[in-house]
Amino acid sequence: MPIKTIIEPFRIKTVEPIRFTTRAERQRLLEEAGYNLFLVPAERILIDLLTDSGTSAMSTEQWAAMMRGDESYAGSPSFTRFREAVQSIFGFRHVIPTHQGRAAERILFTVMCKKGDVVPNNTHFDTTRANCEFVGAEAVDLPIPEALEPARHHPFKGNMDTGGLAELIERVGAQRVPLVMLTVTNNSGGGQPVSMANLRQVNQICRRYGIPLYLDACRFAENAYFIKLREPGYADKTPREIAREMFSHADGCTMSAKKDGLANIGGFLCTNDDALAQQERDLLILTEGFPTYGGLAGRDLEAIAVGLNEALDEDYLKYRIVSTAYLGRHIAEAGVPIVQPPGGHAIYLDARAFLPHIRSAQFPGVALAGELYIEGGIRSVEIGTLMFGEHATMDLVRLAIPRRVYTQSHIDYVIEVTLEVWQRREQIRGLELTYQAPFLRHFTARFRPAAAAAPVPGR
Ligand SMILES: Cc1ncc(COP(=O)(O)O)c(C=O)c1O
Repeated sequence: MPIKTIIEPFRIKTVEPIRFTTRAERQRLLEEAGYNLFLVPAERILIDLLTDSGTSAMSTEQWAAMMRGDESYAGSPSFTRFREAVQSIFGFRHVIPTHQGRAAERILFTVMCKKGDVVPNNTHFDTTRANCEFVGAEAVDLPIPEALEPARHHPFKGNMDTGGLAELIERVGAQRVPLVMLTVTNNSGGGQPVSMANLRQVNQICRRYGIPLYLDACRFAENAYFIKLREPGYADKTPREIAREMFSHADGCTMSAKKDGLANIGGFLCTNDDALAQQERDLLILTEGFPTYGGLAGRDLEAIAVGLNEALDEDYLKYRIVSTAYLGRHIAEAGVPIVQPPGGHAIYLDARAFLPHIRSAQFPGVALAGELYIEGGIRSVEIGTLMFGEHATMDLVRLAIPRRVYTQSHIDYVIEVTLEVWQRREQIRGLELTYQAPFLRHFTARFRPAAAAAPVPGR
């Protein structure tokens, strides 16, 4: 019989202690942080599932490459290696390094968009939406209808609603749509993949109207692996071949190397358009740096060059997708409502279904994230009413799994803690906002327990 257990495809060379706290300490810390886990010090977190961004463990090869980092201001060989690694996978003509994904977004939207423009996406990530709106454009989400039902199974719930896209372009006029974006995988929509067929169709619509298509490529390797597993015709292709095909349907991309670059910092912007690239580099120099480093150290460029290739390793991707699914399966089997099927980088708890007695205006996602912390020192993040305000269609709590960081026993612990909170869900109360910033309010918002937990029909 073949061995069924899928193990971590690495062994541990350096360890980093994690610190235990008591329940009373956690209760006090949460209160002091205004019930916002962004404001709890990291040393007071036991298992940190706040994000998979920039939290990867680097490999021996990445650390070795970092020693080769050349810190020359201009023309560094580290940039040449970085550009070659990006081009061999992504295939775009111009590669512009940035300090992280949002810097690439800011440059892209500044160059391509103006007030009154409309930018469709399957679902804009929070920084993408904020950067788009900052230049006066409207960010429109066009997920397929299945994506709005957390419990509904669909192999490619990250797909864009292509009918909705064509209808939107017809309605507002192609001249008001400077670009279309597709986020792979769709983070805000549950870490769900986009199929190659959908990519192809979106590209065809874009071609018809002469609109460029850009990928928000943060989790391109996980998306490629889902295509391999789920889309007919791709089972025998390597993740690299699939990724190359994905990018062949696009005109450029933004990338946060903090995800599938397996790096702790970094990003880039790619395009095939020479004139745009020139304008983008001019802007880059203004705020990020010279085009051969763009806000990154030479050693960061080296770590990314190696990381992008390691993220496409099939043994790694198998372990990654299977361990995320393991967490999802074990809590879902016990009745915990999650976004189905499990995404690539995270499990999303459906806080509205978990806490049906707390209406959205009292932030069920923030309340649930707080309880996971009190119960077991786990940090997660709300993706819902706090993050998206009136645009929120769901209240989710994301348990994002850092890459190559936690072992199966850590994941078993997360399962146990989640089930403890599930057992006592009826006693959990909603929250009231006491402070909010004018944009990206989730990072700094503060709360207090809501006075009354009166359920409101229809939320
Ligand atoms: C889909 C998506 N796009 C863009 C970003 C922004 O990247 P960064 O955090 O590197 O600025 C993120 C980060 O989480 C993301 O998940």
